[in-house]
Amino acid sequence: EKGGYPHFMLKEINEQPAAITATVSPRVEDGMPVLRVPELTDEALRKIGRVHLVACGTAMHAGMVGKAAIEALARVPAEVDIASEFRYRDPILSPEDLVIIISQSGETSDTLAALKLAKSRGVPVLAIVNVVGSSIARAADYVMYTYAGPEIAVASTKAYMVQMCVLYLFALRLAYARGRLTEAETRRYTARLQDAAEIIKPRLADCEYIKYLASLFMNTQSCFFIGRGFDYSLSLEGSLKLKEISYVHSDAYAAGELKHGTISLVTDGVPVIALATQKSVYEKTLSNAKETKSRGAKVILFTTKDTVVPEGIADYIVRLDEYEDIFMPLQLIVPLQLFAYYMAVLRGCDVDKPRNLAKSVTVE
Ligand code: F6R
Repeated sequence: EKGGYPHFMLKEINEQPAAITATVSPRVEDGMPVLRVPELTDEALRKIGRVHLVACGTAMHAGMVGKAAIEALARVPAEVDIASEFRYRDPILSPEDLVIIISQSGETSDTLAALKLAKSRGVPVLAIVNVVGSSIARAADYVMYTYAGPEIAVASTKAYMVQMCVLYLFALRLAYARGRLTEAETRRYTARLQDAAEIIKPRLADCEYIKYLASLFMNTQSCFFIGRGFDYSLSLEGSLKLKEISYVHSDAYAAGELKHGTISLVTDGVPVIALATQKSVYEKTLSNAKETKSRGAKVILFTTKDTVVPEGIADYIVRLDEYEDIFMPLQLIVPLQLFAYYMAVLRGCDVDKPRNLAKSVTVE
């Protein structure tokens, strides 16, 4: 059942290229993104005032990537909410808004309650769900399924990957419908999104180097992730994966926030995983990495193949292939998942069933 892999998590990480193709291909027609939700016509998309992305945990981290893509491509204001916060904070909603609910299982109780709250306020709800016929899929006005296949490991990997893909497709169609992207630009981005399945294969193949890095840091007490923009969202997800399955204390910070407090925790030998895949803020993140290095941190820098990394900033460098900045999360998440996985394996943890956690959280 594990298809020759020692754990479901590793199997599911390796299933990501197939999950991407299964999720994206049916939604590309003549090179253009299509949502296949009859009510979400281009005209309806033009009328959306604000998008609210609501979910828990890893699905919420996918929502953060979705927000950034929607704002960058379509210039539509978007907010991300943790479902358990959204449902109790009397959120400001209007009928022109769209609520996007994201869930692998479709059964998370806080997420379902957030959905019902939005509906009771007369706001249309689009659910991005992996499990067909689940409670969230049935309660939503519209559904876009992710086609990750069954996810068994408690730590979500391939579902997160395809949640991001659906959100990119949505952002592209929204941007095209609203005249923010020309047809030619929309086609070019869509083709690049379809490339994701191939783009991530070398990252899966690079697992030996990631395992080696994990072996260097397996006994660390804590670990920091830093990044800006999309890289910050990925810091949160990389950090969650690590603490969830390897039980290493870990935190993620927007790189520019370090000097507002956290840097006092950076001492000799502490690993700092610096994510620097976004060209517009590359130099900024690099200088934050350098600040940690000068305080004794061991810096593991994730950047693209062509960047110049001056001496004295990184102890280790993980190189990614060139790709559109906005799609970089699809590529970057793979080595972060593998790092958490190998840390957990080397520390002797129960990778697929971490303590105190359940695959689907049906209680508050
Ligand atoms: C982390 C993880 C959880 C889930 C969260 C939401 O690896 O799996 O954070 O993402 O419990 O679950 P779903 O997506 O089923 O609503």
